[in-house]
Amino acid sequence: MAPLSYTSMVVQVLTGADRRKLDGSDDALFYAAPRFVHHLDGGFRARLTDLYRQRLPEGAQLLDLMTSWVSHLPEEIRYPNVIGHGLNAEELQANARLNRFWVQNLNRDQTLPLEAASVDGVLITAGWQYLQQPEAIAAEVLRILRPGGQLIVAFSNRMFSQKAPRVWLEGTDQDHLLMVSRVLVAQGWPQPELLAEPTRPPGPMGWLGGQGDPFFAVIAAKPMA
Ligand SMILES: C[S@@+](CC[C@H](N)C(=O)[O-])C[C@H]1O[C@@H](n2cnc3c(N)ncnc32)[C@H](O)[C@@H]1O
Repeated sequence: MAPLSYTSMVVQVLTGADRRKLDGSDDALFYAAPRFVHHLDGGFRARLTDLYRQRLPEGAQLLDLMTSWVSHLPEEIRYPNVIGHGLNAEELQANARLNRFWVQNLNRDQTLPLEAASVDGVLITAGWQYLQQPEAIAAEVLRILRPGGQLIVAFSNRMFSQKAPRVWLEGTDQDHLLMVSRVLVAQGWPQPELLAEPTRPPGPMGWLGGQGDPFFAVIAAKPMA
């Protein structure tokens, strides 16, 4: 008998309408030209790097899923094996934290080309909001993480609107946190930790009380057993 594939274990949470995008063309076209820009402001990035500093121990083997030319990892901590994935090879090539990378459209194919229980941490920053099949990705991330490994999904309140599925486009920040959490729990993840925090821009704007991009994160750990 053929072994069960992961897709047979995916529990759907979203409806077909939830998954629709304003721009339904191939996502690879949208990301064909590299964007060497920051998608998130300095306050957000500093908070994210600090979270990684607290949660990702030195030596951890990491997958930065849906990444670009920056991974936001703390410079002073050594991670010997950081695998990158994204949609633009030039951006990934320019990312100094990556040891290797691959390009794959996750809205076409959700199977991650990594062994079961092969990484300690999976990072998704400003990426989940573009997933049309988040349930299958959540199941795959659970498969490739080692027991005790962590998933950190971070996002703010901005997006490329035409590329975000309707459920994200029409949801509030709180809806986004709860939706990521529901999708994970439906695939067998334990209840995740949710963070929702304001940020301050670094430098004078921050000292004067300026507001940065709000910081949201969903943090989940694969059970040990
Ligand atoms: C706003 S950027 C964020 C990049 C990076 N994580 C960062 O923090 O700067 C969104 C990223 O999501 C990824 N992405 C979007 N749609 C995708 C798709 N259909 N399949 C795979 N990756 C996708 C691309 O790698 C893109 O760079």
